[in-house]
Amino acid sequence: MNMPVKKPMIRALKGSVEMSPPIWLMRQAGRYLPEYREIRQKQGSFLDLVYSPELAAEITLQPIRRFGMDGAILFADILVIPDALGQEVKFVEGEGPVLNPIRSGEDLKRLNREKFQPTLAPIGDTLKLVRAGLDREGFDRTSLIGFSGSPWTLACYMVEGKASRDFIHIKSWAYRDPESFGDLIDILTQAVIDYCLDQIAAGAEIIKLFDSWCGVLDHAQFIRWVVHPTRRIVEAIHEVAPDIPVIGFPRGCGRMALDYAQNTTINALALDAQTAPKWAANVFQNLLPVQGNLDPVCLLNGGMAMQNAVEDILVHLSRGPFVFNLGHGVIKETPPAHVEELVRMVRAWS
Ligand code: CP3
Repeated sequence: MNMPVKKPMIRALKGSVEMSPPIWLMRQAGRYLPEYREIRQKQGSFLDLVYSPELAAEITLQPIRRFGMDGAILFADILVIPDALGQEVKFVEGEGPVLNPIRSGEDLKRLNREKFQPTLAPIGDTLKLVRAGLDREGFDRTSLIGFSGSPWTLACYMVEGKASRDFIHIKSWAYRDPESFGDLIDILTQAVIDYCLDQIAAGAEIIKLFDSWCGVLDHAQFIRWVVHPTRRIVEAIHEVAPDIPVIGFPRGCGRMALDYAQNTTINALALDAQTAPKWAANVFQNLLPVQGNLDPVCLLNGGMAMQNAVEDILVHLSRGPFVFNLGHGVIKETPPAHVEELVRMVRAWS
């Protein structure tokens, strides 16, 4: 017998239209919260924090306690995958991630799976602790979200070596020598599959795939390096765990999001802030549930502009299967009071 699903976010991702939409926010745990900064300050490096299950679980729960979100997203980072594959990752204050770049088939020899599982094992422990914490503290409507970067976006950091403006190194490699670049994407596709399945085994109830930089590709390359690998990942997850909803976030790819929604077999599409809610309702919501898409800068400022934007999103998207979120992560200067106000507005909607 099928048990009725109690958690609103999981219901919405399976196609149900909720009276008031479930809500959580990308980067809901992080530097805009004083309780995060307090823990962060005690730990030397950001990655040390990510690999400390007790602290990472505590940070995951902080926004749930404050705002009662419908989703608790694992506190970790997409760049644990290159780290676990043996490519050293450093987070430099004020600069973001820095990696020693991989730019050819020859460089691929620097990657290996020797320390993959042991490096990522603490993240499984974090998920177990969060599941126990949600139960213990009575958050029975909150779903636990695991995540991974998608192969293309992981490769962007691994090949460029840092955040990039023009993505010349990675795009050039992909045009010049698709064979060896394809080897990198294959290594990452398999790593993402294994990592996501480990997260599900540890208690993740939903998986989200972040493809933050897929919008820099032309259409043919988008199909090859984004749509095909994503499909392989989602199919492999569903082969083992058919009930786990997978949300895809192909940020900044404009109308190519339609290829993504139709051809990856993902269960739900996360919209960026540049997507018009009315257009998204017409184009996507009869295909699959959507999530999004308030501009994080709008949340930063709050007030009437936020009220209007939130209403525009709710008017157009809450009549279909929908999860409220931002179109990208919470900005660190955001007043927590604005998040509180946002949650209140969405909860009051019906
Ligand atoms: O609350 C959550 O959403 C869960 C945790 C989470 C983090 N990063 C924590 C983090 C998630 C889901 C991510 C995803 C992530 N990380 C993405 C995809 C989403 C996106 O933003 O496009 C990307 C591209 C990264 C890579 C990354 N991590 C960058 C570029 C940076 C530096 C920029 C910055 O905001 O500092 C990070 C660091 C990072 N990841 C922090 C946090 C809380 C800040 C580090 C700190 O506290 O010192």
